[in-house]
Amino acid sequence: MSRLQVVSGKGGTGKTTVAAALALALATEGKRALLVEVEGRQGIAQLFETEALPYEERKIAVAPGGGEVYALAIDAERALLDYLQMFYKLGSAGRALKKLGAIDFATTVAPGVRDVLLTGKACEAVRRKDRNGRFAYDYVVMDAPPTGRITRFLNVNDEVAGLAKVGPIHNQAQAVMRVLKSRETAVHLVTLLEEMPVQETADGIAELRAARLPVGRVVVNMVRPQVLDATDLERVGSTSRTALARSLSGAGLGGARRGGHAERLVDPLLAQAAEYGERYALEQEQRAVLTDLGLPLDELPLLAEGMDLAGLYELAAELRKQGIA
Ligand SMILES: Nc1ncnc2c1ncn2[C@@H]1O[C@H](COP(=O)(O)OP(=O)(O)OP(=O)(O)O)[C@@H](O)[C@H]1O
Ligand SMILES: [Mg+2]
Repeated sequence: MSRLQVVSGKGGTGKTTVAAALALALATEGKRALLVEVEGRQGIAQLFETEALPYEERKIAVAPGGGEVYALAIDAERALLDYLQMFYKLGSAGRALKKLGAIDFATTVAPGVRDVLLTGKACEAVRRKDRNGRFAYDYVVMDAPPTGRITRFLNVNDEVAGLAKVGPIHNQAQAVMRVLKSRETAVHLVTLLEEMPVQETADGIAELRAARLPVGRVVVNMVRPQVLDATDLERVGSTSRTALARSLSGAGLGGARRGGHAERLVDPLLAQAAEYGERYALEQEQRAVLTDLGLPLDELPLLAEGMDLAGLYELAAELRKQGIA
């Protein structure tokens, strides 16, 4: 099982939710997982119903069986100071740089630098060991940028290593890429069973593969329950209205009077079945496209009551059942 699990996908498909559920699932049974946010939106804090995360690792949840989930919202500016500290022992010079606006420049004007810092910090957490030589975290899960930006984001250190041909920055960039391109890393894509996100998933996987980044699994999120299958739908289509009305009243629907009242239920029922049938066909089409990608597929249910902490544990249990964790 890869120790760095990166979760990407089209915007709004559930990246943050799936990353959080995955961290819970991986931490189950006494493990330690770090959930990392890189987009500075405090989505993780919201999901776990805690206050905004500071730039430090803090425990935010206990997983089933006693595991622990830590969270970190990586702040690019602070990460730059860490980075400079690491190479140049800057100390107060860092504060001076900040006053001069150099850090603003580096973190907002040059987005590539920002990404170097974010991926660098995540990889540092992956490689970090405690005093006894054990990994500080068993797993690091990253709530990553969306599909359209993920390859560039993960590959940014390749560019840096190419620019700085020798020296500490070159070595650091290479060390990060070694983690990201190894089996230690898996990039998962979250999608819905709809045409646009499925297309984005297919394109994203092609891009990741071309860049030799390790693709993990596809997680289909917000899957609606299947109420009828293909055989049922065919049967609905071939049943006469009279037969339908008869079996409805036979089931005690539409009132006691024979025939008459159940008639009224037939049209709305058929309309609903037709609507469901259409959706079912579209979803099956998208499932087939996803299956052709040749990656393991996981499906997470749409939680009808919306997301809350209990729902998150439910999704984590589902991920474990499906073998992702
Ligand atoms: N399985 C689910 N069942 C019900 N609601 C869900 C499910 N997964 C996600 N949601 C809800 O869908 C919305 C989008 O989810 P989330 O914020 O995780 O997506 P995202 O991909 O991280 O979005 P963004 O691109 O804005 O970062 C949220 O309101 C979330 O609570
Ligand atoms: Mg998000």
